[in-house]
Amino acid sequence: SRGEYRHYMQKEIFEQPMALGRTLQGRLPLDDAPLALGEKTMSLLANARAIRILACGTSYHAGLTAAYWFESLCRLPCRVEVASEFRYRDSYPMPNELVIAISQSGETADTLAAVHDARERGFDGVLAICNVDESSLARAADAVLLTRAGPEIGVASTKAFTTQLAALALTVLALAEREGVRSDMRQALLRLPTQVEEILAMDSAIEELAAAFADKHHALFLGRGVHYPIALEGALKLKEISYIHAEGYPAGELKHGPLALVNEEMPVVAVAPNDSLLEKLRSNLEEVRARGGQLFVFGEDGAVDHGGGMRFHSMPACHPFISPILYVLPLQMLSYHVAVLKGTDVDRPRNLAKSVTVE
Ligand code: M6R
Repeated sequence: SRGEYRHYMQKEIFEQPMALGRTLQGRLPLDDAPLALGEKTMSLLANARAIRILACGTSYHAGLTAAYWFESLCRLPCRVEVASEFRYRDSYPMPNELVIAISQSGETADTLAAVHDARERGFDGVLAICNVDESSLARAADAVLLTRAGPEIGVASTKAFTTQLAALALTVLALAEREGVRSDMRQALLRLPTQVEEILAMDSAIEELAAAFADKHHALFLGRGVHYPIALEGALKLKEISYIHAEGYPAGELKHGPLALVNEEMPVVAVAPNDSLLEKLRSNLEEVRARGGQLFVFGEDGAVDHGGGMRFHSMPACHPFISPILYVLPLQMLSYHVAVLKGTDVDRPRNLAKSVTVE
């Protein structure tokens, strides 16, 4: 039941610390012992020399995020494809290319068909990252890493997304450690549920931003690097439940087209974590400000020089590894509050189904 919450989506947003705790539970030893992801998962990962991720919607965004991790932290080539596209084009595996199929429900028709096709094309095994143990995808895969988010009722995926990222982060750690990388990433992941809690406590401050969106027709979401997929996810959340047209862009692409749309009627949301791309992002934001765009920036104190034309929301300092998991939270909360303000059917947005079991 929804309990004290007004909507399932809100309940599921607030369940994230607990859900993430469960995803990590028993899999991430405190000492130097190997990760405990199950024998089958570990052996699929041990053989992988390249990765192909197949998924749809929000699960696809989790895959896009993980690709940055696989390439930068594990030095493994990784491609991410929308399952409905993969099915209908010719694509061939590299030697020992592992498929990672990501799906909350495990019943998405396009993802299931893509997995089937991947096997026929000679990919080297299928690891499913899935929230439902007995699902079709779990049965079709060679190994399953369960996200353990618990049932997700709201059509807009929230806790499924962050637990997918946590599960993917575990596979990234396993592969990075295989390459001999030892770092503080384990500790960073272990701190994740507590840090998520801290950010959820900002809910009422984020609610105050919602009014600036409710009467708008368009919005832009910007991020760079591993936070670009987070911008895509923020845009998907907003369009799905508030029916406001939103686009996610890597901030460096602005001047190649979308800048033409920016004016006072266009709220622009930027995720600006303290990473190596912050300086680049700053100048992208100046381009928006100079055109009169209303900026909403999430970043650590001092990240940007905020003055006129910008509403800055301060985020706690965090380890770069888990930063995408934290920065999606304010975007989830923001779209939730915009939808509530607009009075849409938050848990069951028009035209959409929770799991898309037909093509
Ligand atoms: O169950 P799945 O993860 O396979 O579902 C994939 C998409 O249909 C799903 O993520 C969809 O995009 C959500 N409604 C987004 O909030």
